[in-house]
Amino acid sequence: MILLTGSTGFIGGNVLRSLSERKVPIRCLSRNPQSSANPDIFYVTGDVLDYDSLVRVTAGVDIVYYLIHMMGKQKEQQKFNILDRLAANNMIRACRVNKVRRIIHLTGMSDPDEILSHHLASRKEVEEIIRKSGIDYTIFRASVIIGRGGGAFEVLDTVVRKFPVIPILDWENTRVQPIYIDDVIHYLVGCLDKIETINQSYDIGCPDIMTYRELMEQYAKAVGLKRLFVRVHGSWHWISGRVLGQLAPVDPNVVYWLIESLRNNMVCEPNDLKKIFGFEPISFEESIRKLV
Ligand SMILES: NC(=O)c1ccc[n+]([C@@H]2O[C@H](COP(=O)([O-])OP(=O)(O)OC[C@H]3O[C@@H](n4cnc5c(N)ncnc54)[C@H](OP(=O)(O)O)[C@@H]3O)[C@@H](O)[C@H]2O)c1
Repeated sequence: MILLTGSTGFIGGNVLRSLSERKVPIRCLSRNPQSSANPDIFYVTGDVLDYDSLVRVTAGVDIVYYLIHMMGKQKEQQKFNILDRLAANNMIRACRVNKVRRIIHLTGMSDPDEILSHHLASRKEVEEIIRKSGIDYTIFRASVIIGRGGGAFEVLDTVVRKFPVIPILDWENTRVQPIYIDDVIHYLVGCLDKIETINQSYDIGCPDIMTYRELMEQYAKAVGLKRLFVRVHGSWHWISGRVLGQLAPVDPNVVYWLIESLRNNMVCEPNDLKKIFGFEPISFEESIRKLV
């Protein structure tokens, strides 16, 4: 039995679509469960902040997909790191009680030599909690995921489509290595059959490393829009978070914290995923072509 957390979210929803082709029993945890016509998919009510609910939903589970973050509409928004820590610890404790065999997790990529944003520091902490839990794990780390419904992608799309003149702020030269959503799902679901990925963490990204400025320039070109990029000094974090929080189809809290993370480089460390999975992620240009 697989327990899928975050099944109503961007990554979890895509994992669910892919897993459902495998005809394995899947238990989806949500605070607002839906119903399913698929006999292999069961929705269960639970909240990662409620330990007892996790003990109930992990009973009889072999593998947990942990695809949760707390940056959205939580009560104490500025303390999402505290909530993320509590949630991860609750899940680990419940997994130990019910002898869950493996946790599969997707998190944000970060450079160990940099001072991390609130969002990335919290992601790193959750990753460490899982890695040190004593339960087998496979962890993937990504930067911007290119796909409809993805928070970072929707912010990129909004900026490029809505602003004929795009201010380039202090994050101009931060480097990023995006990845197409289907490639992320290929890793997350494919690792079920790859025992060599147990107790391993991997950075995942497309072959292209670019700056945020180049990312926006290439995206504008791909969607056929002429844009003027103007360098403005300062980070303007608060104001850009407020404006984009109103315009993008993403929770304004998430937008705010994603913008704060633009100062951190997100470039993959080398790994042997090509050998293990037999494929390489598609280029940034190709992933945009699939979406527009
Ligand atoms: N999107 C990206 O570009 C990207 C990039 C790198 C890494 N990641 C990682 O991918 C993972 C999933 O992110 P996402 O983009 O799919 O996020 P998302 O679309 O915002 O989904 C978040 C999920 O978390 C669930 N959730 C939040 N609070 C919960 C709670 N208290 N109890 C139970 N469920 C709760 C929500 O479920 P309900 O509200 O239905 O309960 C929702 O399904 C995260 O670890 C994130 O760091 C994402």
